[in-house]
Amino acid sequence: MASPHAARVHAARVLVASNRGPVSYTLRDDGELEAARGGGGLVSGLSAIEGDTDSLWVCAALGDGDRAAVRRGVGEDGVRMLDIDAEVHAAAYNGIANSVLWFVHHMLYQTPLEPVFDVAFRRQWDAYRTYNRAFADALAAEAADGAAVLVQDYHLALVPGMLRELRPDLRISHFSHTPWAPVEYFRLLPDDIGAELLHGILGADRAGFLTRRWADAFGACCTAVVGGTGDTAVSVHGLGADADFLRERSHRPDVDERMTALRERIGGGGGESAGDRKTIVRVDRTELSKNIVRGLLAFRELLDARPEWRGRVVHMAFAYPSRQDLAVYRDYMTEVRRVADDINSRYGTPDWTPVALYLKDDFARSLAAYRLADVALVNPIRDGMNLVAKEVPVVSDHGCALVLSREAGAYEELGDDAITVNPYDVSATADALHRALTMPDAERAERTGRLAAAATALPPQQWFLDQLNALTSGEQGGG
Ligand code: G6P
Repeated sequence: MASPHAARVHAARVLVASNRGPVSYTLRDDGELEAARGGGGLVSGLSAIEGDTDSLWVCAALGDGDRAAVRRGVGEDGVRMLDIDAEVHAAAYNGIANSVLWFVHHMLYQTPLEPVFDVAFRRQWDAYRTYNRAFADALAAEAADGAAVLVQDYHLALVPGMLRELRPDLRISHFSHTPWAPVEYFRLLPDDIGAELLHGILGADRAGFLTRRWADAFGACCTAVVGGTGDTAVSVHGLGADADFLRERSHRPDVDERMTALRERIGGGGGESAGDRKTIVRVDRTELSKNIVRGLLAFRELLDARPEWRGRVVHMAFAYPSRQDLAVYRDYMTEVRRVADDINSRYGTPDWTPVALYLKDDFARSLAAYRLADVALVNPIRDGMNLVAKEVPVVSDHGCALVLSREAGAYEELGDDAITVNPYDVSATADALHRALTMPDAERAERTGRLAAAATALPPQQWFLDQLNALTSGEQGGG
């Protein structure tokens, strides 16, 4: 049998592994493949080593287009997509990563009936192992002696341990972009599975988290379940917004066009409220943890409790489809629509539609909304960081008040200048919206300035390089 070293094809010195890669392919009707580049913190972070021919991003083929690309040998330099069996991938990604691990770390279960860890769960867990094994094998084959491998997120929690066994020479890190569950909640998982997950991550030299809170929760789980973190350094790297990119991108003509369209939608140009209609903006994936429904309920309570706002404010909710293979996400989307419609039929007038709900992903339009928002609502029930909270203050044209959940990772850095809320408390959120809407202009501008400074303290490129340097210099964590 060939050793992993013999199978090595690339000899990359820096490798990144994540489920979702930087590029995706769709199969057009004419059979041609169309490539689209993704965004996000990791993509920007990696641009720090762009042009470095020794780097490789290993990711999974996520759909038919990606699979066709792999089979046809289409791809980008520096990216390797793994064509993992579609059923295995579905069981690992939808079944375990998104329906179990995501739920545990975001505490999303309705516990009287779920979770149920039965035989079907065990089968999916086997698929999760197989999928993690495919990454570990590919990384082992591609990595040069002593290379640095940066493994991302809950999808790949077993990879560090597996890779360590295959290639003891590598420097390995794991980074969690999510929160980490408190001990009592983590212990919903079957004991052996919880231990396997922790041992998987502890196969890394370094385990990184977005905030001190999540790092401490991980440490507490390790102490309770496997007796400690052993030789693994636990560290905190709080990903920030990319100010240069955002400022440039948000002033291109396509964003200006969308601002004009949004202003038309907001209205208020005629009648008694001429020109002073305010906007509350939220931009999220339609994700269970984002708390979009309670945000709408808070807006409804605001209109109910303070009728003076009727006709004078529009809630623009950008709720982009996510994980639509899962019924619970589809149902959530339906509920978002239902509550928005309910508010509009209850309070709307011929001249004013209180909620504007946008379901089609459009980055330029999101930036346009950031620029003109008076208030940004970021109220997740739990969130690793939340980059929207960090992006809005950077892009805002005339200052924007931030209503921020204390359960978002960003709270650690932005809490002082935001109006903070308990995300379950709809009445308190309605009050916070009122405070935000009535914040004096000067105060709003000052706070926005401080928020923008805090939000950009660790830009993605630096965030990535810090981790890479810590890994290659063998620095001790503790953070
Ligand atoms: C979170 C996770 C990422 C994930 C993203 C989008 O930010 O930490 O790993 O890629 O959500 O979710 P999706 O399931 O569409 O990849």
